[in-house]
Amino acid sequence: MFRVNENYLKLPGSYLFSTIAKKVAAYSEEHPDSGIIRLGIGDVTQPLTEPVIKALHEAVDEMASAETFHGYAPDLGYAFLRDTIAKEDFAARGCDIKADEIFVSDGAKCDSGNIQELFAPDTKIAVCDPVYPVYVDSNVMAGRTGDYDPETGRWSSVIYMPCTESNGFVADLPEEIPDVIYLCFPNNPTGAAITKTRLQEWVDFAVKNGCLIIYDAAYEAYISEEDVPHSIYECEGAKNCAIEIRSFSKNAGFTGVRLGYTVVPKELVFGNASLHDMWARRHGTKYNGAPYIIQKAGVACYTEEGKASIRGLVSYYMKNAKTIYDGLKDMGYTVYGGVNSPYIWLKTTDGMSSWEFFDYLLSRAGVVGTPGSGFGPSGEGYFRITAFGSYENTLKALDRIRSI
Ligand SMILES: Cc1ncc(COP(=O)(O)O)c(C=O)c1O
Repeated sequence: MFRVNENYLKLPGSYLFSTIAKKVAAYSEEHPDSGIIRLGIGDVTQPLTEPVIKALHEAVDEMASAETFHGYAPDLGYAFLRDTIAKEDFAARGCDIKADEIFVSDGAKCDSGNIQELFAPDTKIAVCDPVYPVYVDSNVMAGRTGDYDPETGRWSSVIYMPCTESNGFVADLPEEIPDVIYLCFPNNPTGAAITKTRLQEWVDFAVKNGCLIIYDAAYEAYISEEDVPHSIYECEGAKNCAIEIRSFSKNAGFTGVRLGYTVVPKELVFGNASLHDMWARRHGTKYNGAPYIIQKAGVACYTEEGKASIRGLVSYYMKNAKTIYDGLKDMGYTVYGGVNSPYIWLKTTDGMSSWEFFDYLLSRAGVVGTPGSGFGPSGEGYFRITAFGSYENTLKALDRIRSI
């Protein structure tokens, strides 16, 4: 008889953003004229840039004739894109990553969720707390996390590494040695960045203890400070311990277009097994490649014109980030992030919990953010506001918060 994967049944409640969506829908129904401003989910709002649109149109036209038509894409990605990524994202920063170590996909969420298929069933994972929920939930689904304690919001077999004001929201090395360490910098949700010196400590720790690091660099384009590494492969030894995941969502606005990639260096051999070969095997078996049209749009992001247009998009959102950061600070809030990241991490006031602050902001200002506790227990008492809205809405949201 058919039986379900009962690990799914262990997942508590519904996904953070569906809970928010339900609360917002209920509020809108009761207050149809409230003009809610959404600065919650990390989705972009600005249109794709000219060079990307042009590339999309051209690629669509190619599909219209038999001579230039493209069917199945190579499952690891087209060489034109992988070569360009190797040159522009890695060689240009002094990182020795070869095109055939780059696996093109339809985004960082899928890759960061799917990568755990390479882990042994009893792998012990360590995550930052708060954390992008996909890392934990995908391991829950695979039965790797033990039992959930609703009191603490923690899974019994997961190592949590608190990211708090006292450590500048950059986790300390764990006392218990994990098998896999998930790191995300610049960070979602706290907006914190890591210096190269600190990241090197993580790499050294992983190499010394035989750990694998999954490094999510989806927000790399937002780095503005000099001593912040753009790739973990800027650190010595990282090719022996780290997989890096990237996305075109937050830099080029591809959230609805879907493109990302994962770097799995050939040096990553554990026991006799090459993670590179295993990931290639997985792609070959379960994935038929990101669409040609989308990969053409992706490669257009690396022309001089494309790069300039993306810098424009990123600076648009970073202007919002500065506006939110400065505005909230002026109002007396304690705020973090917003410098190397499009997220502002704000401390709630008057002892409010994260969800109380969510309700307060929604009901008093019609502004939607994300409760910090939704990202893990150490997020309690914090609130995430994104810079991905329009500039006009960002200003309006601040005015409304100011006048509460
Ligand atoms: C840390 C992090 N990784 C990955 C993603 C998803 O990226 P993609 O749109 O490429 O799936 C997000 C999206 O919010 C994110 O915050």
